[in-house]
Amino acid sequence: MIKKFQNIRGMNDILPSQISLWQSVEKTLKDIAHAYNFTEIRLPILENAKLFTATLGQTTDIVTKEMYTFTDKGGENLSLRPEGTAGVVRSVIQNNLLGKITKIWYLGQMFRYERPQKGRYRSFYQFGMEYFGSLSPLSDVEILALTKRFWDALNLQNAVVLHINNIGFKECREKYKVALQNYFRQFTNRLSDELKIKLEHNPLRILDSKDPDIQDLIEGAPLLADYLSPEAQEHFAVVKKHLDHLGISYIENSHLVRGLDYYDLTVFEWRTNKLGSQDAICAGGRYDKLVSMFGGNDTPALGFAIGMERLIALLELQNSASTAIDDLSCYFMISPKNSFYGMKMAETLHDNLPNWQIITDYEDSSLKNKFKKANRSLARWAIIIDENEEQKNGVTLKDLRQNIPQEFLTISDLITKLKG
Ligand code: HAM
Repeated sequence: MIKKFQNIRGMNDILPSQISLWQSVEKTLKDIAHAYNFTEIRLPILENAKLFTATLGQTTDIVTKEMYTFTDKGGENLSLRPEGTAGVVRSVIQNNLLGKITKIWYLGQMFRYERPQKGRYRSFYQFGMEYFGSLSPLSDVEILALTKRFWDALNLQNAVVLHINNIGFKECREKYKVALQNYFRQFTNRLSDELKIKLEHNPLRILDSKDPDIQDLIEGAPLLADYLSPEAQEHFAVVKKHLDHLGISYIENSHLVRGLDYYDLTVFEWRTNKLGSQDAICAGGRYDKLVSMFGGNDTPALGFAIGMERLIALLELQNSASTAIDDLSCYFMISPKNSFYGMKMAETLHDNLPNWQIITDYEDSSLKNKFKKANRSLARWAIIIDENEEQKNGVTLKDLRQNIPQEFLTISDLITKLKG
C-alpha cells in the first residue's frame, strides 16, 4: 500500500469550510479595486529566475535564501514567483501596456522558502495592486486611502495601524549606508553573524531587525531623514499633508526599510498587534526606477500586496467568520424509492432558482438522520421527497430556522414561496 501523503511543510490547503470567508474577502477587495479603476492581470507562477534576482536585489533574503529555483528539461533556470511585482513589470513592458496610466491588480500564490511559523508560509496568497505612470505624491495618497478602505469595509479599522517612511532616492541611501556602516562597525561584537553580513551588504536591513539585544543600538543609529534630498523631502511632505487632510492616521516609522531593493521614496506597511511577530498584513511602496531598469520607458510606479492568510487570520480573530444562515439554500432530501421524481424536482428547482444552493441528500438513511445533517448545514429550508409527495405531485417544505409546522406544496407554489 502506498503511504499516506502529507502536504509540503508551510504549504497549506485552504479547505472548503474556510472558502466562504476567503471568497467574501476577495470580493470586497476586488470591488474596491474596481472602484479605483484597477483591472485584473493573471500571470504564470513560473518566471525566468533572473527576473527576480535582478528585481528584488542580489543581497535580499528572498534572493539569497528563499527562492524555489530549478532547471527545467530545456535547461532554463526558472523560479516560482516569490512576489508579484516583478512579473507584472515584466508583463507590462513586454505587452506595451505603459505610456498611459495603467492600474493593475492580481491575486495569486507566491512561494518563499522561509522557516514556517504562524503567519509565515512557504506558499501563500497575495492580493496585490500596481499603479504605473504617476510621479505625483497624490498617487501615494490615493493608494493609501484605497488600502484604508479595505480595512473599513472589512470592519478591521481598529485592528491595523499604518506605518510609513520615506527612504528617499538611491543617492540619498548610498550616503546614509556609509553613515550606518560607520556607526554599527563600532559595535560589531554585539552583532550576530547574520547582521554582520547585512552590515557589509545591506546595512539598512539592520534597522528592521527584531533582535532584542540590539534595539538600543538601533535607537541610537543615524537617521535616514537627515540624508534625504530636498526633492525627496518635498514628496513625502505632500503625502503626509494629504493624509492628515483625509483623516488617515499613520505612524512615521524611520526604521521601516522593507525587504526588497526596488523601492524609492514612500514605503509603508499596515501592521496589526493581534497576530504575533508576523505583523504586516499589507506592504508596499514606490518603485520609480524598476521599469526603466528592465528596458521599459522611464515609468514611475507604486504598489503593495496584502498577505491573504494573515488578513483571513485577523478576520477570524475578530470573529467575523461567516456562519450566517444562507437564506438562498435548501437541504433537499430524496428517498431512494422516489429517485426519478426527486431528481426531476431538484433539477426543476435549479431551472427556476438558478442562484440557489440545493444540497441534495439521496442516501438510504432515516429522515431523522437527514434532518440532523440538514440542521448542521447552513441551509434555511429542508425539502422532503417521499412516497406521499410523489403520489400527490408536490413536496414538503420545512423552515429549519423557525419553529413552524412543515407544509405540503405543489412545485409551482414552492418556487413562488422560495422566490418570495
Ligand atoms: P512583501 O512585504 O514581501 O512585499 O509582501 C507583502 C505581504 O505579503 C506581507 O506584508 C505579508 O502580509 C505577505 N507575506 C509575505 N511573505 C509571506 C509569507 N512567507 N507567508 C505569508 N504571508 C507573507 C511584496 O511582496 C511586494 N511585491 C509588495 C509590493 C507590490 N510592493 C510594490 N508593489
